[in-house]
Amino acid sequence: MSTTRTIERVVPAVRTTEGGGFIVHRPFPTRLLMDFDPFLLLDEMGPVDYAPGEAVGAPDHPHRGFETVTYALEGQFGHKDSAGHSGTLHPGDVQWMTAGAGVVHSEMPDPSFLRSGGRVHGLQLWVNLPRRDKMIAPRYQEIPSSRIPVATSADGQVRVKVIAGEALGVKAVIETRTPILYQHFSLQPGATIQQPVPADYRVFAYSLSGKGFYGEGDARQEIDAQKMVIFQNDGDSVTLTAGAEPLEVLLLGGVPLKEPVVRYGPFVMNTEDEIRQAVVDYQAGRMGAITH
Ligand code: FE2
Repeated sequence: MSTTRTIERVVPAVRTTEGGGFIVHRPFPTRLLMDFDPFLLLDEMGPVDYAPGEAVGAPDHPHRGFETVTYALEGQFGHKDSAGHSGTLHPGDVQWMTAGAGVVHSEMPDPSFLRSGGRVHGLQLWVNLPRRDKMIAPRYQEIPSSRIPVATSADGQVRVKVIAGEALGVKAVIETRTPILYQHFSLQPGATIQQPVPADYRVFAYSLSGKGFYGEGDARQEIDAQKMVIFQNDGDSVTLTAGAEPLEVLLLGGVPLKEPVVRYGPFVMNTEDEIRQAVVDYQAGRMGAITH
């Protein structure tokens, strides 16, 4: 018999600007709440409509010590990096970048998209790396939408895109360094799903659109879009239910690393010394440079 988790707290996303000036909704970290172990940051980019010539992005910048996961929902996301990779993410595509010891990358609109303008909507999640993996060689996993497993419930009311972990009998194709769950659920009005989650995972849900009900029975709470739900570690499943409208919700989870976290902009390490070293290495060009 599965026990559904109760809600520990609900965190509203804060609207802010990032990179070259693009608008994001950021549920975490917040000034008061930093600990989303094993995650470091979640940005919902847009949705925003750009006129021709207006689209912005994040020009050349480094990362060390964690992973950035970009999931495109609408529009195009161009990228280039110091290891010679470049490409464009289209709706539904995922890029799982393990920065490890360091990369320099740029996340900019493609020239054709910049010219035409259009709607941009996507997500970027930062997944922390355990101490043993912080200095590994960088790695890119680019998964087009067509290769991301999708499952539908028997009654056809719930669809899930499995970016990491396992849901409705399908397993993700992306490899993660520590156990991670990243799933995009689409529920028809009134539909409900009880999703198993390993007991040792911390689990979060972020609603992209629609009003949802999270939890079961008396502990059930109604949650609006752009809110982050933090579940208690008191069960082995979570229950999500759509209200009168369709519900789009991301389920995130992972085993906490329980290691010290020292952040300095694009670097996330375990000690102040390692941060100083990251700055020195970046300035000395040891994270490479992008050939433009
Ligand atoms: Fe970046």
